[in-house]
Amino acid sequence: MVEIIKKKRDGEVLTDGEIKQVISGFVAGTIPDYQVSAWLMAIFFQGMNDQETAALTDAMMRSGDLIDLSEIPGIKVDKHSTGGVGDKTTLVLGPLVASAGVPLVKMSGRGLGHTGGTLDKLEAIPGFDVEMTAREFVEQVKKYGIAICSQNEKLVPADKKLYALRDVTGTVDNISLIASSVMSKKLACGADAIVIDLKVGDGAFIKTIGDAEKLAAIMISTARRMGRQLTAVITGMEEPLGHAIGNALEVREAIDTLRGHGPADLTNLCLELGGHMLVLAGRCHTMEEGRDLLRQSIENGSAFNKFCELVKIQGGDADYVTHPQKLALSGHVYEYKSSKRGYISHLGAMDIGLASAKLGAGRETKESTIDLGAGIILTKKVGEWVEVGDTLAVLYAADAALFAKAEEYLREAWTFSESCPEKMPLILKVMS
Ligand code: URA
Repeated sequence: MVEIIKKKRDGEVLTDGEIKQVISGFVAGTIPDYQVSAWLMAIFFQGMNDQETAALTDAMMRSGDLIDLSEIPGIKVDKHSTGGVGDKTTLVLGPLVASAGVPLVKMSGRGLGHTGGTLDKLEAIPGFDVEMTAREFVEQVKKYGIAICSQNEKLVPADKKLYALRDVTGTVDNISLIASSVMSKKLACGADAIVIDLKVGDGAFIKTIGDAEKLAAIMISTARRMGRQLTAVITGMEEPLGHAIGNALEVREAIDTLRGHGPADLTNLCLELGGHMLVLAGRCHTMEEGRDLLRQSIENGSAFNKFCELVKIQGGDADYVTHPQKLALSGHVYEYKSSKRGYISHLGAMDIGLASAKLGAGRETKESTIDLGAGIILTKKVGEWVEVGDTLAVLYAADAALFAKAEEYLREAWTFSESCPEKMPLILKVMS
C-alpha cells in the first residue's frame, strides 16, 4: 500500500490491479483508514486519468451485490443529483416519471454537511420505511413501477466507506472520486438509463462549468462502456432550489409541486430531468413531448396519486401527503429581516445550507440525529426587490438558541445591488 500511495503521490498512473487491490483491501479491513486517506489526498492533488477512473468505478461497483432488474419489463430509469441545497427533486420526479409509465428505480442517500438527502426527507412522513432488500426492491418496481430506498449495506460498500473518509479528509470535491462514487452506485443498481443532475455553483461540490463538463464526459463514457445510456444535465446551484430547505418543509414543497403549485425553478427542473428520462426510456421521441406528458400527469393528478401510492406501499401515512400541513414543523419560529435595501443579486446556497444544518435540519457528523421539522423558508430570492425590514427568510428550530448560530451564516448569504441582476439560467448544458 505504501508503494501505491507513493506512486500516486509522485504523479504516476496506477494499474487496474493496484486500484482493485486498494478497494478490496479497504473493504475487507486489511488496509487501514489512514493509508486510504493518504491515497485519496494523493488522488486529489495528482488526479486520475480516464482509465484509472474506470478501474476505480469498476472495483467499487463490484465491492458488493449487483442488482439484476432484467425481470422487470421495459427500460428502467434512475436519476442522481450530485447534491445541492433545497434539492427535493427526487420526491417530485420519481412519482412524476412513474406515473407516465416508466419504471423508476432509485436508491438514495442521507444528507451530510450543507446538502440534504432524500432518505431524511422521506422519513419526515410518519411511517415511511426506506429499508428494503434487493428482492423487495425488484418486486415493488415490478408491481408499482417505483421504489425509493436506502442504499443497503451490501450495495457498493466501498462507496459507503470511501465517502465517509472523503467527507472528513477534505477529498470530496475531486472529479474522478465523484464520478466513481456516483457511477459505481448507478451501475450496481442495474437501471438501463440514467439521468444525472450535475449541480454546479456555490452550493455544489463542483464549482465551475468546465469541471462539470469533464465530470459529465467521464460519466457518459463509463456508462457507454457498461452498455447503459446516460444523460447529464448540468444545472445551476448558485441559489437554493425552490423556497424550502429542511426535511418536512421540503416534503411540503414537493407535494405543492406535484399538485401543480410548486416554485417555477423546481417545477421546470423536474420537467427537464423527467423529459430526458422519458426520452431515454423510449416513452417519448422528443423532449417537448416528454415535458407535455409530464405536465399532463401533474394537471390530471396522476403524479400526485403516484406519490400517495408510493408512501402507502412503503409504510407511510398518506394522510400526511393529502394534508401536508400535518407534517410537523419545529416549535420555534423566527423571521430573519433585511438590514439593507436593493435587488438581491446573489443568494449563497452554501450559507443557506449551513444555516439550515445549524437549525438542526442537517448532520454535523454521520452519527448526528436531525430535527425533521427544522429548516428555512426563503421568502426572497435572486432578482427580487427588498426594503429594509422585509422578511428574507422564516426559520424553524426546536430550540430558539439555534437562531443566533444560523444567523452567522445568513448574514453572509444575501448580496444586494442597485440594478436588477440578470438571473443565471437553471439549465446550463445537456450532455448525452
Ligand atoms: N454524490 C455522490 O454520490 N458521490 C460523490 O462523491 C458526490 C456526490
